[in-house]
Formats: sequence, structure tokens, C-alpha cells
Amino acid sequence: MIRVDVPLGARAYSVWVGAGAFGRLGALVGERGGASGFSAAALVADAGLPAALADRAQDQLRGAGLAVVRLELRGERAKRLATVERLCTAFREAGLDREAVVVALGGGVVGDVAGFAAAVYLRGIACLHCPTTLQAMVDSAIGGKTGVNLAAAKNQIGAVHQPVAVLCDPELVRSLPRRDRRAAFGEIVKYGMVGDPAVLARLGELGGDAGAADPASLEPLIARCCACKAELVAGDEHDQGRRAILNYGHTIGHALESTLGYGRLRHGEAVAVGMRVAGRLSVAVRGCPAADIAEQDRLLADFGLGRLPRGVAADPAAILAATRHDKKVVGGEPRWVLLDRIGAARGGYRVPAELAASALAGVLAP
Ligand code: GLY
Repeated sequence: MIRVDVPLGARAYSVWVGAGAFGRLGALVGERGGASGFSAAALVADAGLPAALADRAQDQLRGAGLAVVRLELRGERAKRLATVERLCTAFREAGLDREAVVVALGGGVVGDVAGFAAAVYLRGIACLHCPTTLQAMVDSAIGGKTGVNLAAAKNQIGAVHQPVAVLCDPELVRSLPRRDRRAAFGEIVKYGMVGDPAVLARLGELGGDAGAADPASLEPLIARCCACKAELVAGDEHDQGRRAILNYGHTIGHALESTLGYGRLRHGEAVAVGMRVAGRLSVAVRGCPAADIAEQDRLLADFGLGRLPRGVAADPAAILAATRHDKKVVGGEPRWVLLDRIGAARGGYRVPAELAASALAGVLAP
């Protein structure tokens, strides 16, 4: 088991990465025993998970002496305020008090929505993440970003609410559909491009088969991404500076997700297309070596990423219009994360609209 610490003073926590991490849920919750222990738990699980997995989580929480209310949500469409109200109402009906813990069992949507409900219920109760997708393990479960979408744009309502722990068990991704597993490599390549070139080297060794590899073999790669994220979060918890580099590829990625309709693309698929656009802009605006971006595009292609899936058509004008709803917009203009070279990223760049349009057109061209 690899432990990655997120050193945030009073809000510090650990990310546990390894086979068997999920089996530590009961012990971790139970460790907070005595007067300061948790009073009860709300288990918020993805409705698409095997029931046996949620049963295991519930049994562990009960084994730790907690009463458990079990709730479900399904898909990106559940990522809206109405779901948060539904969850908070159920927390209230179950009598959850300020010492209760919300356990999020699922991918990015479950983590974001359950985390946000935990952030606002009684002005904030504890939350523990058990991500079940590779994407959530390497990114969304860490760092405290929680929230929901507006119809027009992703993640526009939310709060930073750090979890008390994150349990990343690669065994849980075994049953993931191949498309979901592969899509997560969009975010993993991103870590290599913006922060930790060792991730790229490891991906190169694993090759395109990494998407189908034995999950146990992914443990060091997951831990490396978690460590990269932990460092950025520790240095910039509220995303006012350097943490923004994690949004490389997300200006177009989020715009694609909202214009195509939430859930049409996997998040990693959308981000991978966005990284190819941001890569072209990095060459044009920052003089990033074209070879660095060619390396990025080659790795993405190894996982079948970086292009829209067959049968999915996108309207470039609508995508560019949607970038103006991005959270990072200043004065109505999106601010881009660009690279000077692999491992050297910065956010906040303005890009002339015609340059962005031509980079997008180049990437969307058949
Ligand atoms: N997913 C980007 C961040 O947590 O900052």
C-alpha cells in the first residue's frame, strides 16, 4: 500500500493507493472512535456499481459501529443541484448530525456531488472518497473540488471541501468498461505533460495495453499521479495560482462536454481532445517544441484518445462559444493553460480567438 499525504495543516489527509485499500474503509472510519468519532454514515454509491461492492462498504461501516443510510445516483445527468437537495433531504431524514461522514463510492460524478452535499449539509460534514474509476483515483477524488453543473457549463456551482481520506484500490477498476478505463489515460497523460515527465516514461513502458493491464500493475502510476496532484493542491488549495495547470486541456474539454450534452463523452475523452488543441496553441503561443506535443498526441493515440469518437460530430463555433462560460474566464475571455515544454505549464494565457479556432479546426478535422 502506498500512502500519499496531502499536507494541508488542520485539513491534512492521506490517499491510500493499493490493492486492499477499499478493505480499510471500516478500520479508517473506526479509528476515529471515542467522543470525536463519527456518529453515522451516508453511503452515496453509483447506481451502476455491482450491488456487492456497495454491500461491502455498508458492512464495513456497520462493522465500525455506524448506522448507515444508503443512497444512489446515476450518471453525469445527476450532477445538478436537484440531486444535492435530494441527498441533503435524505441525510436530514436519516437524522445525520454534524459528526456524520459521507462516504462517496463511485466515479467523478458521485465524488463531486456527494462531496458537495457533504460540504453544504449543516454547513459542512466529513466526507471520505472511495473512487471506483481510474479517472477519479488519479484526479477528482483528491483536492477537495466538489460541485455540480449548470445546464450551460460544467462545474459552475461548488465548494472546496477536503475529504478526510481517499482510498484508491486498483482492484475496483477491474470491472470497469474498457471505454472508461481507457478514457482515464487522458488525465494520466495530462499529469505527465504538466507536472511529472516520469508518468510519460511509465506510460511509454506500459504501452497502449495499459488500458487493459492488470489493475495491480497500475498502482505505481496511480500513486505518481496522486503525488503530483497532492503537491499542487498543498501549494494552492483554492486554485488561485499553480493548481490551474491541472486544467490543461480542460478549456476545450469542458466546452465539448457541455455542448455535446453531459455524458456523451467520457471526461478523459473530452480532455484529450482539449489537450491536442492546447498543445497546438502551446507551440504557436509559447514556442513549445513541436516534438513535445507530438509525443503527447502519440501517447493519447495509443489509448484511442485525442479525436472525437466515431459518430460524434461537434460544432466548432458552439464549442468556442462555450469556452466563454469556462470558470477560468476573465472579462469574457477564456484563460488557457499552455506549455513551454513537457513539465513546464502555466495558466492564465489569453489566446487570439482566430488562433483558437484554427487549432480546434485542425484537431477536429477528419
Ligand atoms: N481537477 C482539477 C483540480 O482538482 O484542480
